[in-house]
Amino acid sequence: MRRVSLSQFLIEEQRAGRLDADLRLLVEVVARAVKAIAVTISKGKLWDVHGETGVENVQGEVQKKLDVIANELLLQANEWGGHLAAMASEEVEEICHIPFEYPRGGYLLLFDPLDGSSNIEVNISVGTIFSVLRNPDREAIPTEASFLQPGTAQVAAGYAIYGPATQLVLTTGNGVHGFTLDREFGYFVYTHPFMTIPPQTSEFAINCSNMRFWEPPVRRYIEELIAGKEGPRGRDFNMRWVASMVSDVHRTLSRGGIFLYPLDAKNRAQGGKLRLLYEANPMALLVEQAGGAAIDGRRRLLEIVPQRLHQRVPVILGSKEEVERVRAYHEEAD
Ligand code: AHG
Ligand code: MN
Ligand code: MN
Ligand code: MN
Repeated sequence: MRRVSLSQFLIEEQRAGRLDADLRLLVEVVARAVKAIAVTISKGKLWDVHGETGVENVQGEVQKKLDVIANELLLQANEWGGHLAAMASEEVEEICHIPFEYPRGGYLLLFDPLDGSSNIEVNISVGTIFSVLRNPDREAIPTEASFLQPGTAQVAAGYAIYGPATQLVLTTGNGVHGFTLDREFGYFVYTHPFMTIPPQTSEFAINCSNMRFWEPPVRRYIEELIAGKEGPRGRDFNMRWVASMVSDVHRTLSRGGIFLYPLDAKNRAQGGKLRLLYEANPMALLVEQAGGAAIDGRRRLLEIVPQRLHQRVPVILGSKEEVERVRAYHEEAD
């Protein structure tokens, strides 16, 4: 069978007028960094890349060695191409400027270099999440304020999942497209055109150990699912929780489901657990492009205007009918 590579896919999207040369270069460069991250992760103990650095990041988490390596690989790959005005990362407190010796382009790149890094040492799938915005003032050097755009302003979003296979899942606003890395040949092959989330599902993902901290609408929703056939939903539901958002969302995109990291008594002071700009917004765009829905409980995630670079937010996303039900339970409780 004739293969279509990520490069060919992007060229054809450009020809169709759906992306420009700089955005094409940007995605190619991210894909190249992702290949390097995939190789490094797969080496694990062999390359001595497991374990912690002992340094705490701006999120208040102790960085893993691989958090730092993945962050460096993405920054170094993207700084010289001339397509970016600046970058922002979960692992870096301030925005990352393009070194003065390189030209600046029109795009802003935001990323979670390594998502699910608590799963590294136990050899469970992790990922990289990215989001692309335009620099609102093309001529000016970006500031933190340049990044504070609602998710609807994203021109592209995607993630890489480092699982049994490495896959890249991408949207530039015309559906969701999946690519699988052929490691020996060294390039991504277009394997999953127009990924869609079925509107109904019988699978949910939430960290149930937090049940006692949840708000009443979330507790009500999950209790109804767990009640199964005998409960108000009249059917059984299955539960999965990888604790890598990329893996949980990838499953949701692949076969439907609902994913929740809601507001709870533990994360209320921060406004939620997951990060709006690096995690929630790119995943929300992908999920909506695949026919699903993404909310914070009450509001559409993509319409939230960020106040801070590292802002956190509750996340509920996936199959439309289930997300709508959770929204309705919140409204009833208000
Ligand atoms: P990160 O590793 O980038 O800091 O993100 C971890 C996130 C997300 O991937 C996952 O859904 C969630 O944290 C898991 O949280 P719990 O450990 O509370 O289940
Ligand atoms: Mn982290
Ligand atoms: Mn993450
Ligand atoms: Mn991370």
